[in-house]
Amino acid sequence: MSEITLVVRPRGRPIKNLPETITVQADGVASQIHQKIADASRFSVHRLRVTKGSDGTPIANTKEATVHDTGLRNKSAIDVKDLGPQISWRTVFVIEYLGPLLIHPLVYYGRPLIYGSSEAPSELQKITLIMCVLHFLKREYETLLVHRFSAATMPARNIFKNSAHYWLLSGLNLAYWAYAPWAPTAGKSNPLITYSGIALFAVGEVLNFYTHIVLKNLRRPGTTERGIPRGIGFNLVTCPNYFFEIMAWIGVALVSWSLGTVVFLVVAATQMGAWGKKKERRYRKEFGDKYKKKRFAIFPGVF
Ligand SMILES: NC(=O)c1ccc[n+]([C@@H]2O[C@H](COP(=O)([O-])OP(=O)(O)OC[C@H]3O[C@@H](n4cnc5c(N)ncnc54)[C@H](OP(=O)(O)O)[C@@H]3O)[C@@H](O)[C@H]2O)c1
Repeated sequence: MSEITLVVRPRGRPIKNLPETITVQADGVASQIHQKIADASRFSVHRLRVTKGSDGTPIANTKEATVHDTGLRNKSAIDVKDLGPQISWRTVFVIEYLGPLLIHPLVYYGRPLIYGSSEAPSELQKITLIMCVLHFLKREYETLLVHRFSAATMPARNIFKNSAHYWLLSGLNLAYWAYAPWAPTAGKSNPLITYSGIALFAVGEVLNFYTHIVLKNLRRPGTTERGIPRGIGFNLVTCPNYFFEIMAWIGVALVSWSLGTVVFLVVAATQMGAWGKKKERRYRKEFGDKYKKKRFAIFPGVF
């Protein structure tokens, strides 16, 4: 197949140096379209959204389809939109988890200043701190060294919205109520409840980590490939990673015995529930008969 010329049109705010046309190989990868426009306009390739002029469908920045596959032909028009400054998903995750990772020790060690109390923290408060720090350290590790994200970036302004959930709910909210001298966490522990909480937390975290390794191995580095996950939990529900995450937080709730933890848990579980349902629909659509439909997205036999 030969070279074809595409007519480039700006959409939304003006893009300096946007070329009027570009020439690409019809049987070359689709991502050359994005690359040529990015090179000419000196923008990051992730900042540009390219859609077909004829029907507005997005042209993916992918090496897994050719220009011909996208339906573009010689003299076809493409619309190019500047999405504004971008931030990588990895950076967003790192910043999100950094909040609670800093806030928990700050509130715990800042108790005399925050609550005006000179009492030593209780055993339960100490265990709550260790659990929260361990959880978010694990999430930072997974973000940097395990997850293989498909979407490279998101608009930079989204960082505030995305971080609020973690900084406010699992950071400030959880820490303030759990480390207070008047909190139930400051009292004596019931060993049965505390050890059950620690056990749930440990099992939940280990299995959640395991599911993340399973998901990682479905995608070769640098690709956006997707596969059908198999292994512990994946035969029962769509998102066992969410199930094990929730199990770990139930563990924290049992140890901290704090309403603040329960509030975070309920909001997080509601969010994961909605995502879990969406993921099940996506698997069914994407893999058809090869995918064994799951009745439950997160909780076997419940949801
Ligand atoms: N406490 C809370 O409020 C809360 C809420 C949500 C999540 N979390 C935690 O954060 C973790 C990650 O959440 P998430 O929503 O990003 O999970 P996810 O959608 O399951 O994705 C985890 C990673 O696996 C990849 N992946 C997922 N399904 C795949 C497939 N079929 N084939 C290939 N790769 C696949 C994803 O790539 P893509 O980039 O393509 O998606 C992503 O890099 C959760 O497991 C949970 O532990 C906590």
